[in-house]
Amino acid sequence: MDIDLSVNLAGVELKSPIVVSAGVINEDYILKALKTDVGAVILGSYALSPKSTHPPPFIIKLGYGFVNAYGIRKSISEIRGFMLKVIDVAERNDVKVFCSVIEDNVERTSLIAKEAEELGCRVIELNLSAPIIPNLLTMGLNLDVAKTLVMGVSKCIKVPLSVKLSPLIQDIGYVGKELLKSGASILHLINALSPAMVIDIEAGKPMLKTKDGLGAFTGPSIKPIALAKVYLTAKELPEAPIIGTGGVTSWRDAIEMIMVGASAVGIHSALYLKGVEVINEIVNGIKNYLRRKGIERLNELRGLVLKNIQGTPREVNLLKPTVHKHR
Ligand SMILES: Cc1cc2nc3c(=O)[nH]c(=O)nc-3n(C[C@H](O)[C@H](O)[C@H](O)COP(=O)(O)O)c2cc1C
Repeated sequence: MDIDLSVNLAGVELKSPIVVSAGVINEDYILKALKTDVGAVILGSYALSPKSTHPPPFIIKLGYGFVNAYGIRKSISEIRGFMLKVIDVAERNDVKVFCSVIEDNVERTSLIAKEAEELGCRVIELNLSAPIIPNLLTMGLNLDVAKTLVMGVSKCIKVPLSVKLSPLIQDIGYVGKELLKSGASILHLINALSPAMVIDIEAGKPMLKTKDGLGAFTGPSIKPIALAKVYLTAKELPEAPIIGTGGVTSWRDAIEMIMVGASAVGIHSALYLKGVEVINEIVNGIKNYLRRKGIERLNELRGLVLKNIQGTPREVNLLKPTVHKHR
């Protein structure tokens, strides 16, 4: 049986639902990911100049996730060459390249957005949720400021605008709706959970060398929060294109994300845990699952949990008992 994993995100066709979420520290990972079954990669976040940089370590591995603080280390002008290389390889492998941008006002953010669009990025993502850059996170959490940024930046570009949202937003469905009305076309959630800390008990100091030692938390442990945020957004906005990110490291996690209403599934920490190979592992796992369930199109699973909770269960073989050991 042929399985259709394609996803349409506001008119941008992805060959698979897996998206590499922004901020991947190692550029080699991005280049390697382009040769996999990934649907899109999100470069960045880039600004006009570096922000909140500090000495290493940048990412601390815990048994249950990662705490990171990386800052925004590259300006858009520094990465032109890399971006053009990525776009060239991506086009040959039918992978879409998105660019995440972050700045502190409409004019500055629009400059980066326009440059990334001109270089060939197919979606511009506005990072409204940078966890360790205090004034920028505060901006993203203020709905009026966020709407002004979305309105201003979306008017300057022709490609769709995605907004990356923080898990700290309480009424995420309402905020999502307002941002779509303001000009966003795709909702991407969640960014890392912040603030987070790791303490070196020998030194009696935080492990991260940011001001106050604060960073942000990602990886498997944030998945339940990400699922709930995506669910609440999709419940309010069932037709909106949503990239669901947070704690996905396996095909099962990806299926959960689709079932709560994501159109596509972002991965990030999984790359540090399992390497770029995790992408094909997830894609093959999804295909096998759909085959086993007799479902031809992944899209049929989208929002299944919502429909079941709302009392209109879909007639798919999912109700057929399978061994279900909860992880
Ligand atoms: C080291 C690191 C750097 C990140 N940098 C960015 C960034 O620049 N822009 C952004 O939107 N998200 C950034 N993120 C957040 C990820 O894109 C993703 O939303 C988050 O890690 C949750 O997904 P995960 O649990 O699969 O890692 C970063 C995450 C990590 C771990």
